[in-house]
Amino acid sequence: MKDGRVIKQQQQQRQRRQTRNFIRSSSFASCIMAFVLRGVCKQLVGPQWRKTFYPLVRSCSGAGGQFQYIIMDKKGDGGCVGLIKLNRPKALNALCENLIEELCQALDTLEGDDDVGAVVITGSERAFAAGADIKEMQDLNFQKCYSGSFLSSWNRLAEVKKPVIAAVNGYALGGGCEIAMMCDIIYAGQKAQFGQPEISLGTIPGAGGTQRLTRAVGKSRAMEMVLTGERITADEAKQAGLVSKVFAPEVLVEEAIKLGEKISRNSQLISAMAKEAVDAAFELSLTEGIRLEKRLFHTTFATEDRKEGMTAFGERRKPNFTNK
Ligand code: COA
Repeated sequence: MKDGRVIKQQQQQRQRRQTRNFIRSSSFASCIMAFVLRGVCKQLVGPQWRKTFYPLVRSCSGAGGQFQYIIMDKKGDGGCVGLIKLNRPKALNALCENLIEELCQALDTLEGDDDVGAVVITGSERAFAAGADIKEMQDLNFQKCYSGSFLSSWNRLAEVKKPVIAAVNGYALGGGCEIAMMCDIIYAGQKAQFGQPEISLGTIPGAGGTQRLTRAVGKSRAMEMVLTGERITADEAKQAGLVSKVFAPEVLVEEAIKLGEKISRNSQLISAMAKEAVDAAFELSLTEGIRLEKRLFHTTFATEDRKEGMTAFGERRKPNFTNK
């Protein structure tokens, strides 16, 4: 378990950076508008004002309007699928600090958007992401890494409650592979390549690569990839259990959105419980995991959506879930 103080500090740092980034990227008029909205949100919502403020500002300025390194959009029926496209083509979507910052902001926004039942993260046809930004890391030293908890903000993705699908075309290397593995489901384009090449840079994966890859593909394959830096293809990744389906590159994102739509038709509340239960399988013993599953299963009987789902079955109609 992460220390609560560290999580709080990271949240505060992120919120300060969100405000800075917004002010940097806005015109004078939008800043005034944002200032007024901020005051209104603080008055009306109280301590949780940021959860209302940022989505509101974003919707006033056009979805994802102020992002530099990502594009955020809503797709699917009624905008039920949040789409985040990593968009730093000149550097093959190398994951610089600002890109990760924007990714976290977008995730916060989509997590707080009741229309959105699932999120898709993708890159370009050439690269999902070619790893952490090597040029940005070049001059780092141990002290800076350690005191700044380098790469720990990436964990935001693994903490999202809504189901997240990675649609991987092209390179998913180093941090790119790690970001894909933080998602709940990976769909890949036929030309996708997965790898952890950090060893050739004199370092090792630092955002979960050694842990999540090993759990996904087993020790021997993971060791081979981490110790040699060799990449695997989409088909190999599917065979190894890293990826659940492979598609032609040009239909990949469409297929991931269709999956997101399908997931979104279910209750968001119950999906979050299902996700929590599956994730627990990576953390707990079988007995503890089954106990948690049973608790969550019992908890579904406290929801209106469980009642609605079973009533709709009896009445031979589609359920109308309300996330309650
Ligand atoms: N960090 C920073 N910049 C990166 C990058 C990374 N992880 N990966 C690619 N880029 C940049 C390159 O420096 C280059 O920029 P430039 O044109 O300003 O020099 C641009 O993206 C295109 O990359 P290039 O190497 O010219 O493309 P390629 O098709 O020949 O090779 C890769 C593609 C992905 C095989 C190669 O870029 C690569 O090995 N990248 C590093 C992968 C890695 O080690 N990731 C783990 C990081 S911890």
